[in-house]
Amino acid sequence: RYRDPAAEEKMNPFAEQEAWEEHQIGKATLKFGSKDKKQKHDDYDFVFEDQIEFIKASVMGGVNVEQDAAVQSPEDSTAKTELENLQSVRKTLPIYAYRDGLLEAINKYQVLVIVGETGSGKTTQIPQYLHEAGFTARGKIGCTQPRRVAAMSVSARVSQEMGVKLGHEVGYSIRFEDCTSDKTVIKYMTDGMLLREFLGEPDLASYSVVMVDEAHERTLSTDILFGLVKDIARFRPDLKLLISSATLDAEKFSDYFDSAPIFKIPGRRFPVEINYTTAPEADYLDAAIMTIFQIHVKQPPGDGDILVFLTGQEEIETVEEILKHRTRGLGTKIAELIICPIYANLPTELQAKIFEPTPEGARKVVLATNIAETSLTIDGIKYVIDPGFSKMKSYNPRTGMESLLITPISKASAEQRAGRSGRTGPGKCFRLYTAYNYYNDLDDNTVPEIQRTNLANVVLTLKSLGINDLLNFDFMDPPPSESLLKALELLYALSALNKHGELTKLGRRMAEFPLDPMLSKMIVASDKYQCSDEIISVAAMLSIGNSIFYRPKDKQVHADNARMNFHMGNVGDHIALLKVYSSWKETNFSTQWCYENYIQVRSMKRARDIRDQLEGLLERVEIELTTNPNDLDPVKKAITAGFFPHSARLQNSGSYRTVKHPQTVHIHPSSGLAQLLPRWVIYHELVLTTKEYMRQVTELKPEWLVELAPHYYQLKDVEDLASKKMPRGQGRATKD
Ligand code: CDP
Ligand code: MG
Repeated sequence: RYRDPAAEEKMNPFAEQEAWEEHQIGKATLKFGSKDKKQKHDDYDFVFEDQIEFIKASVMGGVNVEQDAAVQSPEDSTAKTELENLQSVRKTLPIYAYRDGLLEAINKYQVLVIVGETGSGKTTQIPQYLHEAGFTARGKIGCTQPRRVAAMSVSARVSQEMGVKLGHEVGYSIRFEDCTSDKTVIKYMTDGMLLREFLGEPDLASYSVVMVDEAHERTLSTDILFGLVKDIARFRPDLKLLISSATLDAEKFSDYFDSAPIFKIPGRRFPVEINYTTAPEADYLDAAIMTIFQIHVKQPPGDGDILVFLTGQEEIETVEEILKHRTRGLGTKIAELIICPIYANLPTELQAKIFEPTPEGARKVVLATNIAETSLTIDGIKYVIDPGFSKMKSYNPRTGMESLLITPISKASAEQRAGRSGRTGPGKCFRLYTAYNYYNDLDDNTVPEIQRTNLANVVLTLKSLGINDLLNFDFMDPPPSESLLKALELLYALSALNKHGELTKLGRRMAEFPLDPMLSKMIVASDKYQCSDEIISVAAMLSIGNSIFYRPKDKQVHADNARMNFHMGNVGDHIALLKVYSSWKETNFSTQWCYENYIQVRSMKRARDIRDQLEGLLERVEIELTTNPNDLDPVKKAITAGFFPHSARLQNSGSYRTVKHPQTVHIHPSSGLAQLLPRWVIYHELVLTTKEYMRQVTELKPEWLVELAPHYYQLKDVEDLASKKMPRGQGRATKD
């Protein structure tokens, strides 16, 4: 893990504040738990020589709701079958008491906004109620989720509750993975997938109910869905529309859907004690780890589990490793600490672990991304640790650059996170920031994604749906018009739109691929260069992200050598990815080969699945599978045909400058070209960590830019830039 405290400080909005002074780690003592207790546990003190000081600030509102005495708890029913147990658990959920009223309201109104605290049973129960009430006789029930993990785990749960096999009556559909069948009547899917279904079925005729769930998350796809479902509801009076949300900003949804009625499901919420640090933390991972141990050691064993919010897979893996290492030495004096990571790319077989009940006397610590904020409910959480950050997309419409940044969360998020601890009893939340930070630095709400993202993909989808006047699309919160224009500009540059803004034949073919328009363009262009076989492998590998190679701490040199093998001949990162895929294929997809080369077999299998699907889509757009194994230039040209807007040129300083909308960027240290520094490169994406880095980089011949995108680059763009560094009079740029 590469951390640069100076740069992190820059990203940390708290850094400038006077309270920053000197941070207390190493000096402060624990405030929660009495002094006496500390004495008693003195022998454990080696666990945390470093401690963090918390102040108890306020008690969050909440009421104790008596459990319904009439409801049997699952323990009473040992003789029952598992299915019967699940059925009685269903009846303990807060939503159960409102079942009939809810169904009545759905029958009465076409559009209903449903609000209920996370964990009240909205996602898992409402589709089942509708099924039980006969809605599925008229068509499927579709329920959208902003996150793939949620779609998978919720559908698994519902199929258990219904006693059916996942993929039969209950299924899920996420990008590149369709686990449904003809039998499927309850379909959970990502919001992006429902958006794509409009392309094949513009009136969603096969659905009787569409539930846009987790509406408060306001993802880009959810926001676009709002506009589309609102529209079809007008001419499909039989379609029921449910908008469900975990937060109380329901008025806004109601207003948008022509004053749709709001159905509130009162939750059971116990008081949550909020604790803040007395001074800002320099390193929130350290602070989180210390806090985990403080809770684990100081609080009675078995009294409740811990949920920690981290920003991504990397952080989760780091913390997991440190926790494992540090618990190893603790011996039997201290209760077992069960570590459960959960993030979007966690393999399915490991996802179930977080829902398993914690064994007697042990404590579970769940290390989660934002996904546990509202999408997933984990029972038994008593302590929440909130470092106050999440990874957020941000977009600069001027330059068209998108980056994922570790950003402070909003107050609304902080409240949601804290609330996770008070579901089954009084909880405690430890915020790893000061009360001052909370009140003065955090925004009230998270900015909807539509206002901070690249819209190219969505614009292409909308254009394919025949929605041409995007400026007048019924957005709940409109995107900045620069973002819309930028998207139109890019799609025009890619020749997906003509100069009137209408979809071209090329654009129509591009829209068939559930990929970013630049990737789709690259694939469609590969037809011309007779290398579609290679290009779909490249596209599949790029879609996996950066989880292909792994680098165990004790074998970094070996791992790096293995990786560099694929870069032999300085072919660039795209071709290296292609080589990884083809070599794996040559070994007949051998797992052993992956181990030997420090490659994640799981990621490779996923790449193979994606590749298979892309191959199927090629057929749909009538592109033949062609290959040109002896010449890599056509492959690079096809990549350039899609990614020409991402070109950059080397500067004297050793950094790069993007050609259009000049900006200083660097080759990511993980790139095979990081040492070589070619004069011209094309990159897959920019990531901002400590610097603006280009990830997945390939060398480029500058004349290709003019050849492949003459409407975008003129000779002078390429020449001027190249000759600027030349002594006077030397004339034209060299063409390498
Ligand atoms: O959607 P909402 O947040 O209102 O609740 P839900 O997701 O329907 O969750 C209702 C209950 O089902 C919670 O007690 C969860 O713990 C449980 N659940 C589960 O055990 N396994 C899952 N994969 C999903 C939910
Ligand atoms: Mg839910």
